[in-house]
Order: sequence, then C-alpha cells, then structure tokens
Amino acid sequence: MTADIPSLRRAVDTLHENRETTIELLQLCNNAHTVHELMRNLMRFFQRFTTCEAVGVRLREGDDYPYYELRGFSDEFSRAEKWLCATDREGMTVRDKEGKPVLGCLCGGVITGRLDDFRPFATPYGSFWANGRSPLPADMTEENHQVQPSNRCIKEGYESMALIPLRLHGKTLGLFQFNDRRKGLFSPELLELLENLVQYISIALTKLHALEESQRLNNELRTNGQALRNISLHLESLRENERKTIAREIHDEFGQSLTALKYHIASVRQNIANPVENQVYAQLAAMDQIVEAGMNKIQKISSHLRPEILDDLGLAAAIEWQAKGLQQFSGITFHLDLKAETYPSLPQETAIAVFRIFQESLTNILRHSGATHVEISLDHHDDRLCLHIADNGRGITADELSSPSSYGILGMAERARSCPEGSLEIKRGIPSGTVVELSLSCAESVGANNIVPHEARP
Ligand SMILES: Nc1ncnc2c1ncn2[C@@H]1O[C@H](COP(=O)(O)OP(=O)(O)OP(=O)(O)O)[C@@H](O)[C@H]1O
Ligand SMILES: [Mg+2]
Repeated sequence: MTADIPSLRRAVDTLHENRETTIELLQLCNNAHTVHELMRNLMRFFQRFTTCEAVGVRLREGDDYPYYELRGFSDEFSRAEKWLCATDREGMTVRDKEGKPVLGCLCGGVITGRLDDFRPFATPYGSFWANGRSPLPADMTEENHQVQPSNRCIKEGYESMALIPLRLHGKTLGLFQFNDRRKGLFSPELLELLENLVQYISIALTKLHALEESQRLNNELRTNGQALRNISLHLESLRENERKTIAREIHDEFGQSLTALKYHIASVRQNIANPVENQVYAQLAAMDQIVEAGMNKIQKISSHLRPEILDDLGLAAAIEWQAKGLQQFSGITFHLDLKAETYPSLPQETAIAVFRIFQESLTNILRHSGATHVEISLDHHDDRLCLHIADNGRGITADELSSPSSYGILGMAERARSCPEGSLEIKRGIPSGTVVELSLSCAESVGANNIVPHEARP
C-alpha cells in the first residue's frame, strides 16, 4: 500500500498540471479574435510547455497544407518544407489514382492517415512520434513505401519529433509539429495530452474560420451595398440635373415662344377696328386664353420638375410653396412652422435631397393616408436641421414600412443617408396618422456658407 502512495501522488500532480495546461490553452482559444492571433499564441504556448526547440503548424489551403506559423525552425527549413503537394515538371499537382493530391513527407502521411509504414511510431489518434531511441527509417525509398520522412528533418539532427493532426468531424484541418535535437522528449502520456489539446484547437479554429468567413461576407455585402448606394446616388444626381435642364428648356424655350405668340395675338387684336362684332377678334381672344392656359401649364410642369423657388429662395420657401399648392386642390389643411429665419443655407444637393423627401411624404399623404390635416415644422437646433411632417390619417403599418417593395420609402431613406449625418424615421403617430422625421447636420453648411439666414439671402 505505502509503495503506491508516491506514484499516486505523481498521478494526482500530473492530473493537476494537465488541468492547468488545458485551462491555459482553452483561454488562449477563447481570447483569440483571428486565426493568426490564435496560432501565434499557440506557438509560444507549445514551445514553453513542451520545451521543444521548434514548433510549427500547417493549415489547409486548397489541396495543400503549408506551414502557417513556425517558431524555432531555420529559415531554410521553413522555405524548403513549406509546401507538401508534390508537383510535376510543369508545376502541376501530382495526384494519385483517386485524383487526390500526393502529399509528401511524414507530415503528408499523418495528414492523409497513411502511416502503415510507421505503425510503431503512430498513435491510435493518428499522430506520429519518435524519440531518437528507435532509429527513424531514413533509408526508405519511394518504391517500397507510401510515405517518406523528410530528409531535412533527419539532416537537421532532430531526434525527438511529434506530428499531431488537427481534425474535426473526420476533416483534417492541419497539423502541429514538434521537433527537438534532444532524445527522449516525448512519452505516450505527453502525446495523449497534446492530442487532447489539439482537439480543442480544432474546435476553436473552426469557429474562427466561420467568424472570419462571416466577416468577409459582411464586408463584401457592405462593399456591394455601398457600391449600389453610390450608383443610386449617382443616378439620382443625373436625374436631378436632367430635370433641371428639362425644366429650364421648357420654361425658357416654350415659355418664350408662347409669350411671343401672346404678344402677337394682342397686337393683331389691337389693330382690329371694330372688335365688338368682329369674329376674328373673338377667335383671337379664345386663342389668347389657350396660350395663357399653355403658359400656366408650362409653369406647373417646370416647377414640378425643379422648383426654381428652391434654388432661388431656399428650402423653407420651397416647402411653403409646395404645401400651399397642395392645400388649394386637396382639401387638406396644412399648418407650417418653418422657422425660416434661423436655419443656415444648405449645400444645393442637400437642399434637393431634403425637398425630395418632403415631396414624397406629401405625395404619400395625398395618395395613402386619407388625412385631413398635416403639421409641418422645420427646426434648427445645435447644428442640426429637423424636418417633421405629421398627418392625421390612417397611419402607416409596420409591414408597409419594412416592405422591400416600398420603393418610395426606400428612396427617402437613401436620400436621407446622402445628407450629412442624415437620419430618417417614419412611424405611426400618436394617437393616429404617420410621422416622418428627417434630421441632418448643418454644421458644415454653417462653415461653408457662413450662416446665410434665410431672409438675408439675395
Ligand atoms: N402617410 C402615409 N399614411 C398611410 N400609409 C402610408 C403613408 N405613407 C406611405 N404609406 C404606405 O406605405 C406604402 C409604401 O409607400 P411608398 O412611398 O414606398 O410606396 P408607394 O407610395 O405605394 O409607391 P411609390 O413607389 O410611387 O412611392 C404605401 O403604399 C402606403 O400603403
Ligand atoms: Mg410613395
């Protein structure tokens, strides 16, 4: 009984040490944010824990398993041994009868599980280890063995060596390598502990791979989203310019022609001696009315395309003009609180974006809300401009708000994003109706335009 106590104590000590080691490794696995960070920390950890002079890890990359991180190996070794895939003269990967790539060296044997030639050196888990006590079969030739040990390992004088595959769910993710010139560094117990640790690493590595992949996809999505947003903004700005040009053409070209026509009609009418009974005079009067109506129409079309008032008098004036115009024919009453005198002049493209959001809000109220009253305010606080539009209609629903086919709302959100620090909120009002709230920074406008109070602008 007493003879067993020291060995029992040793076993307890070992268990305790193993537990501490496992906890340290798990912490490393848990704290790593990237594969690179994990592997770099593991190299340091394994070198300290095993006291091996050289440690390395291979990770799968396509068909091959190049070294991912090395510590203690010579530069020449890491360069020469980096890749495992055999290549032919043309540089093409050599494949076996099943089409699988042929992986060279002992590392390749461990990764592919072809360790028949090394049964005495293999563990049930599939690791290879040698202690320098039994000679490595260095004289093996390709003809009679599937796997060849790397001559370089032997040439560099490594006596103790362990190769432990990194596997999860039957897939080989890579391999850990431990080399030392001293003999007898490994024991079956140490191998078993290393194998257990490597299994934890497999899980951490898979998790990090998944994380990195999802980050990559997220970045891709973000980049694509940004590209789409840029295209949409570019198209919007082209559309705005086109609208402006068409509005000006219609207004100037057609408008001037009609003005000239109106002038000629007037002068012909003046030359008619007896207008009361003159049929031509009456016809000219009718023509004059048609021309007048045409001119009004042109005014409306060009204003709709690009309200001159926005460019000439600014946002508040354009909002007022638009709301009053709508009130006249819609029967909806509008209450405006525009604090026009306090807000700074905005860059043109920002003013257009805000105005288009406002227009879409009004169009939606008219088309969908059934509202009878609308409150509109434009306020300026702490370098932020806030446009608030609240109707007393049926209220927008959550489904309508989040529908991918709500293109009007999506367009409003996109325009809001194009404004400096712009944010848009659309929600149901209390107790009813819909509220649209746009907020944006006008700090830059202040600097750029030296705060031109609305009233003071020319
Ligand atoms: N003020 C509102 N009150 C009630 N429902 C609204 C209001 N604004 C929008 N909606 C609802 O949200 C939906 C989406 O609006 P959105 O502007 O995206 O599209 P739309 O007006 O139907 O079409 P368009 O693409 O021509 O703008 C509308 O179809 C309507 O059902
Ligand atoms: Mg709409």
